Amino acid sequence: MVHGLELGLGCFLWLLICCKVAAQTDTQPRIINGSVARVEETRHLVSIRLRKHDNNFGSGHICGGALIAANKVLTAAHCLYNNGRKRYRRPSELIVVMGTLNRYEHPNGTIVSEVSSMAYMNTFSPDSMRDDVGVLFLRKGLIRPNPFSVAPIQLARQVTPAGRVCQVAGWGRTEQSTLSNILMTANVSTIREQTCRSIYKSGLLPGMMCAGRLQGGTDSCQGDSGGPLVHEGRVIGVVSWGYGCAEPGLPGVYVDVQYYQQWIDERSGVARSRTSPGLGLSFSLLLGLLTFTATIQYSCRYKR
Ligand code: ARG
Repeated sequence: MVHGLELGLGCFLWLLICCKVAAQTDTQPRIINGSVARVEETRHLVSIRLRKHDNNFGSGHICGGALIAANKVLTAAHCLYNNGRKRYRRPSELIVVMGTLNRYEHPNGTIVSEVSSMAYMNTFSPDSMRDDVGVLFLRKGLIRPNPFSVAPIQLARQVTPAGRVCQVAGWGRTEQSTLSNILMTANVSTIREQTCRSIYKSGLLPGMMCAGRLQGGTDSCQGDSGGPLVHEGRVIGVVSWGYGCAEPGLPGVYVDVQYYQQWIDERSGVARSRTSPGLGLSFSLLLGLLTFTATIQYSCRYKR
């Protein structure tokens, strides 16, 4: 009789422990309700870090970004802005890490690069989040293509209709409200502009779009900012802001990449965007001048 009771109690305790463990594994860290990312689908994802906080490799993570050319990273302007100091960060304050799913690890093929320069829309406003788009130029970048762990991703060239399933990934906050060590990814859907506008009203500015799940539960979150929203293997958005994370009726707000396509395309490499238009101009001027003098000389000689 006593044995029976003990046995029963034992089983009950066992069950309790098992259930608790199961429940814990069920709520393991993820973007908000996502799953562990696979390398093949996130080779373009980079971790943008504050150098001075990254002495413990991985601890300086502030934002995500997408490699869109060998040395060019698309991100959010607010990732480059120090809100406390009300100024943009200097390129030397940042480092960019790519090729590792675990932000604390540094496996073979991981690239750690300094930032040689950056661009952001000068109309960006940290209050309204207007024009929250920026580009970083990497000092090291992709020296030779490393299709196993790092590869650039293309921008979408067409408008993505509402209701399309997209992927968002990052090391941002999870349900446990801390940043994730492992890169997480989640499926979210593009949301009709009208619906988005009725939710965020005048907060929704041109160049912003909604994606998420209206029933809540799955979303990007703090620390995912700057990371790409991907549809059919192309970037259509950049994580920008939201009210809380994964709240029902409050989807995430993303930068509409299509809207800024020209601006993004025009920022292409430090050498090209800074030096070479100047060089190009002086070169054309010089060429013009030479042709001009030659013509004058020629016509003078001819006249004479
Ligand atoms: N601004 C956040 C960041 O800096 C991203 C917030 C995204 N929020 C959301 N509910 N989707 O990381």
